[in-house]
Amino acid sequence: MKYIPYGKQYIDNEDKKLVLDSLSNDLITTGPFVEKFENKLKKYFACNYSYACSSGTAALHLAMLSIGLKKDDIILMPAINFIASYNMAKSMQLKVYLVDVDKYTGQVTPDKVLDCIKKNKLKKIKALILMYNGGYPEYIQKFYEIKKKHNFLIIEDACHALGGEYSYKKKFLKIGSCKHSDISTFSLHPLKSITSGEGGIVTTNNTKISKNIKLFRNHGILRNKKNYWNYDILEYGYNYRLSDINCALGLSQLKKISFFLKKRKSIYFKYVKEFENFNQNLTVPKYSISIKPSYHLFIININFEKIKKNKNLFIKYLNKNNIMAQQHYIPIYKFSVYNQKKSSFPDSEKYFNNSLSIPIFVNLKNKDQNKIIKVIKNYFK
Ligand SMILES: Cc1ncc(COP(=O)(O)O)c(C=O)c1O
Repeated sequence: MKYIPYGKQYIDNEDKKLVLDSLSNDLITTGPFVEKFENKLKKYFACNYSYACSSGTAALHLAMLSIGLKKDDIILMPAINFIASYNMAKSMQLKVYLVDVDKYTGQVTPDKVLDCIKKNKLKKIKALILMYNGGYPEYIQKFYEIKKKHNFLIIEDACHALGGEYSYKKKFLKIGSCKHSDISTFSLHPLKSITSGEGGIVTTNNTKISKNIKLFRNHGILRNKKNYWNYDILEYGYNYRLSDINCALGLSQLKKISFFLKKRKSIYFKYVKEFENFNQNLTVPKYSISIKPSYHLFIININFEKIKKNKNLFIKYLNKNNIMAQQHYIPIYKFSVYNQKKSSFPDSEKYFNNSLSIPIFVNLKNKDQNKIIKVIKNYFK
Protein backbone atom coordinates (compact mmCIF):
# COMPACT_ATOMS: atom_id res chain seq x y z
CA MET A 1 0.00 0.00 0.00
CA LYS A 2 1.25 3.46 -0.87
CA TYR A 3 2.15 6.05 1.74
CA ILE A 4 0.11 9.24 1.92
CA PRO A 5 2.84 11.91 1.91
CA TYR A 6 2.47 15.06 4.01
CA GLY A 7 2.94 17.23 0.91
CA LYS A 8 3.23 16.78 -2.84
CA GLN A 9 3.48 18.89 -5.98
CA TYR A 10 0.67 19.12 -8.53
CA ILE A 11 1.93 19.03 -12.13
CA ASP A 12 -0.36 18.91 -15.17
CA ASN A 13 0.04 18.75 -18.95
CA GLU A 14 0.03 22.55 -19.28
CA ASP A 15 3.10 22.66 -17.01
CA LYS A 16 4.86 19.99 -19.04
CA LYS A 17 4.07 21.76 -22.31
CA LEU A 18 5.48 25.09 -21.18
CA VAL A 19 8.67 23.44 -19.90
CA LEU A 20 9.08 21.77 -23.28
CA ASP A 21 8.46 25.10 -25.03
CA SER A 22 11.17 26.72 -22.95
CA LEU A 23 13.67 24.16 -24.19
CA SER A 24 13.10 25.27 -27.79
CA ASN A 25 14.26 28.83 -27.12
CA ASP A 26 17.76 30.05 -27.99
CA LEU A 27 18.33 31.00 -24.37
CA ILE A 28 17.45 28.45 -21.75
CA THR A 29 18.86 30.55 -18.95
CA THR A 30 18.70 34.35 -18.50
CA GLY A 31 16.16 34.25 -21.34
CA PRO A 32 12.54 35.24 -21.97
CA PHE A 33 10.90 32.93 -19.44
CA VAL A 34 12.86 34.48 -16.58
CA GLU A 35 11.65 37.92 -17.59
CA LYS A 36 8.04 36.77 -18.09
CA PHE A 37 8.00 34.98 -14.76
CA GLU A 38 9.46 37.95 -12.90
CA ASN A 39 6.98 40.37 -14.51
CA LYS A 40 4.04 38.15 -13.60
CA LEU A 41 5.32 37.85 -10.04
CA LYS A 42 5.66 41.61 -9.76
CA LYS A 43 2.02 42.02 -10.76
CA TYR A 44 0.89 39.18 -8.54
CA PHE A 45 2.55 40.59 -5.43
CA ALA A 46 1.96 44.24 -6.40
CA CYS A 47 5.54 45.11 -5.50
CA ASN A 48 8.16 47.20 -7.31
CA TYR A 49 10.79 44.49 -7.82
CA SER A 50 10.57 40.73 -8.01
CA TYR A 51 13.46 38.36 -8.75
CA ALA A 52 13.62 34.65 -9.40
CA CYS A 53 16.59 32.81 -7.93
CA SER A 54 17.81 29.26 -7.50
CA SER A 55 16.17 28.38 -4.14
CA GLY A 56 14.46 29.77 -1.08
CA THR A 57 17.80 29.52 0.69
CA ALA A 58 19.43 31.60 -2.05
CA ALA A 59 16.55 34.10 -1.71
CA LEU A 60 17.29 34.46 2.01
CA HIS A 61 21.01 34.81 1.39
CA LEU A 62 20.34 37.45 -1.27
CA ALA A 63 18.05 39.28 1.14
CA MET A 64 20.75 39.40 3.84
CA LEU A 65 23.47 40.39 1.39
CA SER A 66 21.40 43.04 -0.34
CA ILE A 67 20.59 44.97 2.83
CA GLY A 68 24.31 45.14 3.54
CA LEU A 69 24.55 42.89 6.60
CA LYS A 70 28.15 42.47 7.72
CA LYS A 71 30.15 40.43 10.25
CA ASP A 72 28.91 40.91 13.86
CA ASP A 73 25.67 42.65 12.82
CA ILE A 74 22.83 41.67 15.11
CA ILE A 75 19.82 39.92 13.66
CA LEU A 76 16.80 38.19 15.20
CA MET A 77 15.05 35.11 13.89
CA PRO A 78 12.64 32.45 15.17
CA ALA A 79 13.96 29.53 17.21
CA ILE A 80 11.62 27.35 15.13
CA ASN A 81 12.45 27.59 11.47
CA PHE A 82 13.96 25.64 8.63
CA ILE A 83 17.72 25.93 9.04
CA ALA A 84 18.26 27.99 5.86
CA SER A 85 18.15 31.49 7.37
CA TYR A 86 20.34 30.47 10.34
CA ASN A 87 22.92 28.81 8.10
CA MET A 88 23.07 31.78 5.74
CA ALA A 89 23.36 34.26 8.61
CA LYS A 90 26.14 32.29 10.29
CA SER A 91 27.97 31.89 6.99
CA MET A 92 28.02 35.72 6.92
CA GLN A 93 29.29 35.73 10.54
CA LEU A 94 26.26 37.63 11.79
CA LYS A 95 25.31 37.64 15.47
CA VAL A 96 22.09 35.68 15.57
CA TYR A 97 19.59 35.93 18.43
CA LEU A 98 16.85 33.31 18.38
CA VAL A 99 13.37 34.40 19.43
CA ASP A 100 11.09 32.01 21.32
CA VAL A 101 7.82 31.13 19.56
CA ASP A 102 4.18 30.67 20.45
CA LYS A 103 3.66 27.17 21.83
CA TYR A 104 0.75 26.37 19.48
CA THR A 105 1.64 28.05 16.20
CA GLY A 106 5.44 27.78 16.31
CA GLN A 107 5.65 31.43 15.24
CA VAL A 108 7.25 34.43 16.87
CA THR A 109 4.79 37.00 18.18
CA PRO A 110 5.42 40.74 18.70
CA ASP A 111 5.66 40.13 22.46
CA LYS A 112 8.27 37.43 22.00
CA VAL A 113 10.35 39.76 19.82
CA LEU A 114 10.18 42.47 22.49
CA ASP A 115 11.07 39.92 25.20
CA CYS A 116 14.13 38.85 23.23
CA ILE A 117 15.28 42.45 22.77
CA LYS A 118 14.80 43.17 26.47
CA LYS A 119 16.25 39.95 27.84
CA ASN A 120 19.40 40.27 25.74
CA LYS A 121 19.59 44.08 26.17
CA LEU A 122 19.92 44.41 22.41
CA LYS A 123 20.78 47.69 20.78
CA LYS A 124 21.50 48.40 17.12
CA ILE A 125 19.57 45.45 15.76
CA LYS A 126 20.00 45.35 11.98
CA ALA A 127 17.21 42.98 10.96
CA LEU A 128 14.40 40.73 12.08
CA ILE A 129 13.62 37.63 10.05
CA LEU A 130 9.99 36.52 10.31
CA MET A 131 8.71 33.11 9.31
CA TYR A 132 5.01 32.40 8.80
CA ASN A 133 4.98 28.80 9.96
CA GLY A 134 2.55 26.78 7.87
CA GLY A 135 1.49 29.88 5.91
CA TYR A 136 -0.44 31.93 8.52
CA PRO A 137 0.96 35.48 8.35
CA GLU A 138 -0.23 37.06 11.59
CA TYR A 139 0.74 40.34 13.41
CA ILE A 140 2.35 42.02 10.41
CA GLN A 141 1.43 45.54 11.41
CA LYS A 142 2.58 45.00 14.99
CA PHE A 143 5.96 43.77 13.76
CA TYR A 144 6.08 46.83 11.55
CA GLU A 145 5.57 49.12 14.56
CA ILE A 146 8.41 47.38 16.42
CA LYS A 147 10.62 47.77 13.35
CA LYS A 148 9.92 51.50 13.25
CA LYS A 149 10.57 51.92 16.97
CA HIS A 150 13.82 49.94 16.98
CA ASN A 151 14.91 51.03 13.54
CA PHE A 152 15.70 47.68 11.94
CA LEU A 153 14.74 46.02 8.66
CA ILE A 154 12.30 43.15 8.27
CA ILE A 155 13.04 40.18 6.03
CA GLU A 156 10.08 37.86 5.61
CA ASP A 157 11.00 34.22 5.23
CA ALA A 158 7.67 33.67 3.51
CA CYS A 159 8.66 30.30 2.08
CA HIS A 160 5.42 28.83 3.51
CA ALA A 161 3.25 31.81 2.70
CA LEU A 162 3.19 32.28 -1.07
CA GLY A 163 -0.39 33.32 -1.85
CA GLY A 164 -1.04 34.40 1.74
CA GLU A 165 -2.61 37.82 2.41
CA TYR A 166 -3.19 40.17 5.34
CA SER A 167 -5.67 42.98 5.78
CA TYR A 168 -4.63 46.59 5.81
CA LYS A 169 -7.03 49.54 5.64
CA LYS A 170 -9.95 47.33 4.67
CA LYS A 171 -8.02 45.73 1.80
CA PHE A 172 -6.07 42.51 1.59
CA LEU A 173 -2.41 42.77 0.61
CA LYS A 174 -0.29 39.90 -0.64
CA ILE A 175 2.64 38.67 1.38
CA GLY A 176 5.43 39.77 -0.94
CA SER A 177 3.93 43.23 -1.48
CA CYS A 178 6.49 44.43 1.10
CA LYS A 179 4.21 47.18 2.36
CA HIS A 180 5.22 46.37 5.93
CA SER A 181 8.56 44.70 5.36
CA ASP A 182 11.75 45.44 3.47
CA ILE A 183 12.17 42.15 1.66
CA SER A 184 10.10 39.00 1.21
CA THR A 185 11.56 35.65 0.25
CA PHE A 186 9.81 32.55 -1.08
CA SER A 187 10.72 28.99 -1.98
CA LEU A 188 9.55 27.19 -5.11
CA HIS A 189 10.49 23.75 -3.79
CA PRO A 190 7.99 21.06 -4.91
CA LEU A 191 6.10 21.04 -1.60
CA LYS A 192 5.40 24.78 -1.59
CA SER A 193 2.32 26.68 -2.89
CA ILE A 194 3.71 26.53 -6.43
CA THR A 195 6.90 24.94 -7.70
CA SER A 196 9.58 25.47 -10.31
CA GLY A 197 11.38 22.21 -9.40
CA GLU A 198 13.84 24.08 -7.22
CA GLY A 199 13.70 27.85 -7.03
CA GLY A 200 13.12 30.97 -5.00
CA ILE A 201 11.77 34.51 -5.22
CA VAL A 202 12.87 37.78 -3.63
CA THR A 203 10.62 40.84 -3.65
CA THR A 204 11.19 44.41 -2.46
CA ASN A 205 10.05 47.97 -3.11
CA ASN A 206 13.47 49.46 -2.42
CA THR A 207 15.50 50.41 -5.51
CA LYS A 208 18.91 50.15 -3.85
CA ILE A 209 18.12 46.76 -2.36
CA SER A 210 16.81 45.57 -5.73
CA LYS A 211 20.05 46.58 -7.47
CA ASN A 212 22.02 44.65 -4.87
CA ILE A 213 19.85 41.55 -5.30
CA LYS A 214 20.58 41.59 -9.02
CA LEU A 215 24.30 42.05 -8.43
CA PHE A 216 24.67 39.32 -5.80
CA ARG A 217 22.53 36.92 -7.85
CA ASN A 218 24.97 37.08 -10.74
CA HIS A 219 28.57 37.09 -9.40
CA GLY A 220 28.53 40.82 -8.62
CA ILE A 221 28.71 41.52 -12.36
CA LEU A 222 27.83 44.96 -13.73
CA ARG A 223 27.78 44.88 -17.51
CA ASN A 224 28.91 47.72 -19.64
CA LYS A 225 25.75 48.93 -21.37
CA LYS A 226 27.50 49.85 -24.62
CA ASN A 227 29.88 46.91 -24.98
CA TYR A 228 28.24 43.71 -23.74
CA TRP A 229 31.60 41.87 -23.64
CA ASN A 230 32.93 44.23 -20.98
CA TYR A 231 31.96 44.16 -17.35
CA ASP A 232 33.08 45.04 -13.86
CA ILE A 233 32.69 43.08 -10.61
CA LEU A 234 31.21 45.24 -7.87
CA GLU A 235 30.62 42.62 -5.17
CA TYR A 236 31.73 39.11 -4.22
CA GLY A 237 28.60 37.59 -5.70
CA TYR A 238 27.13 34.16 -6.38
CA ASN A 239 25.43 32.25 -9.13
CA TYR A 240 21.90 32.21 -7.74
CA ARG A 241 20.16 32.50 -11.13
CA LEU A 242 17.09 30.41 -11.99
CA SER A 243 17.02 28.86 -15.46
CA ASP A 244 14.32 29.50 -18.08
CA ILE A 245 13.29 25.86 -17.78
CA ASN A 246 12.48 26.35 -14.11
CA CYS A 247 10.85 29.72 -14.75
CA ALA A 248 8.58 28.17 -17.42
CA LEU A 249 7.32 25.71 -14.82
CA GLY A 250 6.96 28.50 -12.25
CA LEU A 251 5.03 30.62 -14.73
CA SER A 252 2.64 27.82 -15.58
CA GLN A 253 2.13 27.01 -11.90
CA LEU A 254 1.50 30.65 -11.01
CA LYS A 255 -1.54 30.60 -13.32
CA LYS A 256 -3.05 27.90 -11.11
CA ILE A 257 -2.30 29.40 -7.73
CA SER A 258 -5.91 30.38 -6.88
CA PHE A 259 -7.05 26.87 -7.66
CA PHE A 260 -4.22 25.44 -5.52
CA LEU A 261 -5.08 27.67 -2.57
CA LYS A 262 -8.79 26.85 -2.83
CA LYS A 263 -8.07 23.13 -2.70
CA ARG A 264 -5.77 23.52 0.30
CA LYS A 265 -8.37 25.66 2.03
CA SER A 266 -11.08 23.02 1.65
CA ILE A 267 -8.73 20.36 3.09
CA TYR A 268 -7.91 22.71 5.97
CA PHE A 269 -11.59 23.31 6.79
CA LYS A 270 -12.43 19.64 6.69
CA TYR A 271 -9.70 18.90 9.24
CA VAL A 272 -10.82 21.82 11.40
CA LYS A 273 -14.44 20.65 11.34
CA GLU A 274 -13.41 17.15 12.38
CA PHE A 275 -10.85 18.03 15.01
CA GLU A 276 -11.72 21.37 16.60
CA ASN A 277 -14.11 19.96 19.18
CA PHE A 278 -12.91 16.40 19.08
CA ASN A 279 -10.63 16.14 22.09
CA GLN A 280 -9.32 18.74 24.52
CA ASN A 281 -5.79 17.36 24.12
CA LEU A 282 -5.71 18.00 20.38
CA THR A 283 -5.50 21.59 19.11
CA VAL A 284 -5.76 22.65 15.48
CA PRO A 285 -4.41 25.80 13.79
CA LYS A 286 -6.75 28.78 13.96
CA TYR A 287 -6.18 32.17 12.44
CA SER A 288 -7.57 35.68 12.75
CA ILE A 289 -9.95 37.28 10.24
CA SER A 290 -7.20 39.74 9.39
CA ILE A 291 -5.34 37.17 7.28
CA LYS A 292 -5.89 34.80 4.38
CA PRO A 293 -3.44 31.94 4.81
CA SER A 294 -1.71 29.90 2.12
CA TYR A 295 -2.62 26.72 4.07
CA HIS A 296 0.84 25.33 3.45
CA LEU A 297 0.83 23.09 6.52
CA PHE A 298 -1.77 21.67 8.85
CA ILE A 299 0.01 21.57 12.20
CA ILE A 300 -1.75 19.78 15.03
CA ASN A 301 -0.79 20.07 18.68
CA ILE A 302 -1.31 17.09 20.93
CA ASN A 303 -0.77 17.31 24.66
CA PHE A 304 1.27 14.10 24.72
CA GLU A 305 2.17 14.48 28.37
CA LYS A 306 -1.49 14.52 29.35
CA ILE A 307 -2.33 11.44 27.30
CA LYS A 308 0.86 9.74 28.51
CA LYS A 309 2.28 9.17 25.05
CA ASN A 310 4.98 10.85 22.98
CA LYS A 311 5.32 12.34 19.54
CA ASN A 312 7.72 9.74 18.17
CA LEU A 313 5.33 6.91 19.03
CA PHE A 314 2.49 8.83 17.40
CA ILE A 315 4.48 9.36 14.19
CA LYS A 316 5.34 5.64 14.16
CA TYR A 317 1.64 4.83 14.63
CA LEU A 318 0.77 7.05 11.63
CA ASN A 319 3.55 5.46 9.57
CA LYS A 320 2.19 2.00 10.37
CA ASN A 321 -1.06 3.21 8.85
CA ASN A 322 0.83 4.45 5.78
CA ILE A 323 0.49 8.12 6.71
CA MET A 324 3.51 10.39 6.67
CA ALA A 325 3.79 13.18 9.21
CA GLN A 326 6.56 15.73 9.63
CA GLN A 327 7.88 18.05 12.30
CA HIS A 328 8.20 21.71 11.32
CA TYR A 329 10.75 22.13 12.71
CA ILE A 330 13.41 20.75 15.02
CA PRO A 331 14.36 23.90 17.03
CA ILE A 332 17.55 25.51 15.80
CA TYR A 333 19.05 25.52 19.32
CA LYS A 334 19.02 21.71 19.33
CA PHE A 335 21.50 21.38 16.48
CA SER A 336 25.23 20.81 17.01
CA VAL A 337 26.04 23.97 15.03
CA TYR A 338 24.22 26.13 17.60
CA ASN A 339 26.81 27.29 20.10
CA GLN A 340 24.97 29.57 22.57
CA LYS A 341 23.86 26.69 24.75
CA LYS A 342 22.85 28.75 27.76
CA SER A 343 19.75 30.41 26.25
CA SER A 344 16.33 28.89 26.88
CA PHE A 345 13.17 28.78 24.75
CA PRO A 346 10.41 27.26 26.86
CA ASP A 347 7.52 27.73 24.42
CA SER A 348 9.54 26.52 21.43
CA GLU A 349 10.27 23.42 23.48
CA LYS A 350 6.55 22.88 24.19
CA TYR A 351 5.72 23.48 20.55
CA PHE A 352 8.36 21.00 19.44
CA ASN A 353 7.22 18.30 21.87
CA ASN A 354 3.57 18.54 20.88
CA SER A 355 3.31 19.60 17.25
CA LEU A 356 3.41 17.83 13.95
CA SER A 357 2.18 18.36 10.39
CA ILE A 358 -0.33 16.03 8.81
CA PRO A 359 -0.91 15.71 5.05
CA ILE A 360 -2.25 18.70 3.14
CA PHE A 361 -1.66 19.11 -0.58
CA VAL A 362 -3.65 19.94 -3.70
CA ASN A 363 -4.60 16.46 -4.81
CA LEU A 364 -5.01 14.81 -1.44
CA LYS A 365 -7.91 12.47 -2.14
CA ASN A 366 -11.07 12.70 -0.08
CA LYS A 367 -10.82 9.06 0.89
CA ASP A 368 -7.21 9.54 2.02
CA GLN A 369 -8.16 12.53 4.14
CA ASN A 370 -11.01 10.52 5.67
CA LYS A 371 -8.54 7.80 6.50
CA ILE A 372 -6.12 10.24 8.13
CA ILE A 373 -8.94 11.65 10.27
CA LYS A 374 -10.12 8.18 11.31
CA VAL A 375 -6.62 6.95 12.17
CA ILE A 376 -5.92 10.04 14.31
CA LYS A 377 -9.26 9.80 16.09
CA ASN A 378 -8.66 6.12 16.80
CA TYR A 379 -5.42 7.00 18.56
CA PHE A 380 -7.41 8.72 21.27
CA LYS A 381 -9.70 5.73 21.92
C1 LIG B 1 10.60 28.30 6.08
C2 LIG B 1 11.59 27.93 5.02
N1 LIG B 1 12.66 28.71 4.83
C3 LIG B 1 13.57 28.44 3.89
C4 LIG B 1 13.44 27.33 3.08
C5 LIG B 1 14.48 27.04 2.04
O1 LIG B 1 13.94 26.94 0.77
P1 LIG B 1 14.65 26.04 -0.35
O2 LIG B 1 14.45 24.61 0.02
O3 LIG B 1 13.93 26.41 -1.61
O4 LIG B 1 16.08 26.43 -0.36
C6 LIG B 1 12.35 26.48 3.25
C7 LIG B 1 12.20 25.28 2.41
O5 LIG B 1 12.09 24.18 2.83
C8 LIG B 1 11.40 26.78 4.26
O6 LIG B 1 10.35 25.99 4.46
